[in-house]
Amino acid sequence: MNGDEELRVSKIKSGTVIDHITGGQALNVLAILDIDGNNGETVSVGMNVPSDRLGRKDIVKVEGRELSQDEVDVLSLIAPAATINIVRDFDVIDKSRVERPERVFGVLDCPNRNCVTTENEPIDTHFEVLDDGVRCAYCETIIRDDIADHIQVE
Ligand code: CTP
Ligand code: ZN
Repeated sequence: MNGDEELRVSKIKSGTVIDHITGGQALNVLAILDIDGNNGETVSVGMNVPSDRLGRKDIVKVEGRELSQDEVDVLSLIAPAATINIVRDFDVIDKSRVERPERVFGVLDCPNRNCVTTENEPIDTHFEVLDDGVRCAYCETIIRDDIADHIQVE
């Protein structure tokens, strides 16, 4: 049902609606999209909105913006049930579920200080995506619960 949620976050004219985000992850989604409010983008956020499918969900609506595949890949790690809705002229013209990639390069930092990727050499990080986390391909350190804390910042 749409009704409940429409009362909380109004429809957008054109842009991207990231729906069915795991409850509590909206601020991490904004971080992945590099949205901190200082670029003038119009953004609406709903947190812990009731959802039939998830119980509670977060939702992020960004006007005038589409997401890159890299951004969607990282999103899938913290919000595996998210749907990406592309909106034009108030209509949803495309809807897709995020898919967890098999591996991600250069988007997460390895927590192991002795890992070759955390030394000063210019080696891109490489993590294999597991069912319940990600594993560094270099040192095999596994990140499970706090993936969002290891997202690389430029
Ligand atoms: N949406 C929006 N602005 C629009 C159109 C849609 O913000 N102009 C939002 C809706 O509020 C909803 C999401 O985009 O959160 C998907 O819209 P829609 O496909 O119409 O809703 P549902 O059928 O409920 O989607 P789903 O089946 O994916 O739950
Ligand atoms: Zn490592």
